[in-house]
Amino acid sequence: MFDFTIDGRIVSVKEGTTILEAARSAGLHIPTLCYLKNVSSIGSCRLCVVEVEGAAGLVSSCNTLVKPGMVVHTNSDAITAARRTALQLIIADHGLNTTQYCFSCPKNGSCELQDRCRELGVETTPFDVQPAGGPILDSNPFIAFNPALCIRCQRCVGACNNAAGNHTLVTGRRGVRTSILAPFGEDWKSTNCESCGNCAGACPTGAITMKRRREYRSWEIQRVRTTCPHCATGCQYNLVVKNGRIVDTEALDGPSNHGLLCVKGRSASFDFVHSPQRLTMPLIRSKITGELEPASWDEALDLVARRFGEIKARHGGSAIAAFACARSANEDIYMLQKMARTVFETNNVDNCARVCHGPSVAGLQRTLGSGAMTNPISDICENAQVILLVGSNPEEAHPVIGMQLRAAVARGTRLIVVDPRDIGLSKTSDLHIKLKPGTNVAFANGIVRQLIHDDLIDHAFIECRTEGFADLKAMVEAYTPERVAQICAIDPRDLIAAARLYGRADRAAIVYCLGVTEHSSGTEGVMSLSNIAMVTGKYGRPGCGINPLRGQNNVQG
Ligand code: FES
Repeated sequence: MFDFTIDGRIVSVKEGTTILEAARSAGLHIPTLCYLKNVSSIGSCRLCVVEVEGAAGLVSSCNTLVKPGMVVHTNSDAITAARRTALQLIIADHGLNTTQYCFSCPKNGSCELQDRCRELGVETTPFDVQPAGGPILDSNPFIAFNPALCIRCQRCVGACNNAAGNHTLVTGRRGVRTSILAPFGEDWKSTNCESCGNCAGACPTGAITMKRRREYRSWEIQRVRTTCPHCATGCQYNLVVKNGRIVDTEALDGPSNHGLLCVKGRSASFDFVHSPQRLTMPLIRSKITGELEPASWDEALDLVARRFGEIKARHGGSAIAAFACARSANEDIYMLQKMARTVFETNNVDNCARVCHGPSVAGLQRTLGSGAMTNPISDICENAQVILLVGSNPEEAHPVIGMQLRAAVARGTRLIVVDPRDIGLSKTSDLHIKLKPGTNVAFANGIVRQLIHDDLIDHAFIECRTEGFADLKAMVEAYTPERVAQICAIDPRDLIAAARLYGRADRAAIVYCLGVTEHSSGTEGVMSLSNIAMVTGKYGRPGCGINPLRGQNNVQG
């Protein structure tokens, strides 16, 4: 920590803090436009300029680091004039002099450019600029790009490349002719675009928008914060509600998604609510016609209560079972088991957390005491030096985790993919071990043996925190690289390389999914992976652990 002065106040900051971050933490407001936290800080818009004593000219606060003893002023006539001029140039480029886009723009009312103009009192521009033109690209079913509204802040490029790790949306040309090359034209399907819409979420204007935005304006809606129901990542978002109908979503900066969403979460996982195919009233099968016919809730509840009562009276409570969904809230699931135990008088209570990942629950409970991820998603993606990804294709099954893993690999995290399939992440992995399906246990035993032979194990951790190491050591001795290579149909050198890459890292995490659990030996597969982390002491620390990617958003609730 060191001190610097901002607007006459002495503030302590950590090394590596930008002037903007320091100002915000001190409660000072600096306007920004091209800056987006953790996504983009290219310093192109110049709205965030400040005075630094001794510096030649104004500096952009979003990407200038604070230095010890620095004296900064965030407000002066010169600063305001510079910000207003920058904004006038931007709105000229945005076509304010030539068109009346604001009225028809889907972002009208929630446009950051409008907001900054209001804040700085800019209503017109003296500059006569020919705005960047080009056809509107809207062949993508979810996203549209209007180049005329683009202010070339490149936040979309940062969202696609840095945050989502996708690299399909790029910048073309340079200088005043800089343009965004958005993959939403006729050929969008031939690109790697996942239609995740994170570019639209990052766009401060109406240049890149989700098509759903055309259905509403910001003053017509309510926002309801919730957790995306699609997978188990737990992405936080707002449901955008107009006249009692969900019309859109907005990503929030949740602990597992950091403002990202995938195409399923952002554009699909809520449409069932208003689907015309959805049952909205009870149906009772008619004894006369044999068809399901609409009934009132009273009729349906009376029938169900009576039939359950009859079954219980005739066969006892154990003839009845209650099964809950892990996409339900804790309170609902609690009430279901309460009803089962107190009304039906049965302990036959279960839920889907024990189906596809039943082996995770059993295997991790047996080895660790709890069937859950040991580390948060952000910790794995930000702190692990090596990730051992087994039987999992997160880009498809848990896309927001897939995005963060891609970004981690781009930043230098080493990746070992153990999967018979060619998955997207295997293209950038250090090792792709395409083992024979169903041979995970032999593979993991081979890794443990190699770690023991290379003395890459944590003796203190094994001594203090584990049981049965001698038995494990004796058992895995038979799993030589050559034997494992034969069982798994892999190159024995890959097994050795994987063990050394994982074992030599200070922080390495295991991530796995149904490619491990959905086998008759699934529980043993989970326990074997758990052994890898235990013998190396890679538990209870950042960037380590064993982490099942599961199916439902409340599966660990
Ligand atoms: Fe800093 Fe744009 S927000 S230059």
